[in-house]
Amino acid sequence: MTVKALKGFKDIIPGEVETWQFIEATARDILHRFGCSEIKVPILEKTKLFQRSIGETTDIVEKEMYTFPDRNGSSLTMRPEGTASVLRAYIENGLHAAKPIQKLYTIGPMFRHERPQMGRLRQFHQISVEVVGTDLPKVDAELMAMAALILEELGLSASLEINSLGCPKCRPAFNKALLDFIGGVDDLCEDCLRRRDTNPLRVLDCKSANCQAHYKDAPSILDHLCTDCADHFSAVKKGLDLLKVAYTVNSFMVRGLDYYTRTTFELLTNDLGAQSAVGAGGRYDGLVEQLGGPAVPGIGFAVGMERLALLLNQQDNTLPEPEIDLFIAALGPLGQDEGFKMCHALRALGLSVAMDYQDRSLKNQMKQAGKAGARFVLILGDEELKNKQAVLRNMENHEQQEVALGGDIKHWSLELADNLFD
Ligand code: HAM
Repeated sequence: MTVKALKGFKDIIPGEVETWQFIEATARDILHRFGCSEIKVPILEKTKLFQRSIGETTDIVEKEMYTFPDRNGSSLTMRPEGTASVLRAYIENGLHAAKPIQKLYTIGPMFRHERPQMGRLRQFHQISVEVVGTDLPKVDAELMAMAALILEELGLSASLEINSLGCPKCRPAFNKALLDFIGGVDDLCEDCLRRRDTNPLRVLDCKSANCQAHYKDAPSILDHLCTDCADHFSAVKKGLDLLKVAYTVNSFMVRGLDYYTRTTFELLTNDLGAQSAVGAGGRYDGLVEQLGGPAVPGIGFAVGMERLALLLNQQDNTLPEPEIDLFIAALGPLGQDEGFKMCHALRALGLSVAMDYQDRSLKNQMKQAGKAGARFVLILGDEELKNKQAVLRNMENHEQQEVALGGDIKHWSLELADNLFD
């Protein structure tokens, strides 16, 4: 019996991987323009890192983490998101001392044991960005503009919804108002009844139509913000207006991770079936300190690469086929050996070169060159080599020219390389 990949874990094969490379290259380019630096962090962390940051009573920590004991019995978890790991690394490496404001990004796989469906996997990939060391509202606006620009430069569109979740000063009053409201409703689902006691804010995220019908009349967090949070939120909106980033305010957006304070946001689309969020994020002003670091604020977001790839594929904006510079059609034993050496010499000079090592017919090798998308073919036979010559064929306009192969291989490889780029 063949061994198959795990449910919810997907290979990204040639033909698909080009879309991923396009997404990654576009995002990296934009992130560098905004002054972000890449950080690479481990996939495996101590479980308590996520319990302390994402929150013990969130769905992610309660039901979705890949957690298992290490051989020495300590509890490890495959990271379900990037923020906690990046902040752990920020603290552990003293990055706050190196620069007062750190703009960090990481790209890689995350793991959540969710029910797989279109756009929802158990191993998925995020481009995750964190700006640590400032709570200026312009930074929030700039970060959302950055996320929107990534989508725009990929040729995708999504709508931006924003909210403010307040701070430890004003959240308790809202929680109380929400609890009072929930206390007056008697047919909530089991999840909401449980959350009422553990994490009241999260009830607003319930998927049940019945619960949602009740929550339409629930109190709004935006009516409970303290003056500082209300001013911050107004300034964030002004920042978005200045940058001409369109948004709508959704006071019921609560997010599934507990670390958020003040600004939260989601980039939403209708084109992904049951999954609507292409990206999401928010501010986490107490988190670095909570994880044992300095009392510095921070904000970040992540976009899901599977979801971006699905959206791009739906658009049918086919990416250019990969092509190579040169195919060496080598004939006869001498041609095969010289071609083999030349192939390596030209690759070392920076060209993409392929050849067939089986001395097949010229017709067959020309077919292979066509399939590989070669721009040029160098025909190298025993006879040509004896005369220190070869034929270079331009596959686009079918023109052929003789090229001289005198001198040492480095020399004529260089000449040939010049020829290819004339
Ligand atoms: P999140 O909303 O849990 O936030 O995930 C961000 C994005 O990751 C989602 O919008 C979605 O595109 C993608 N995603 C999440 N789960 C899956 C899945 N099972 N399959 C495919 N894609 C998925 C965070 O993870 C936060 N760490 C974002 C953040 C960074 N907040 C501050 N900094």
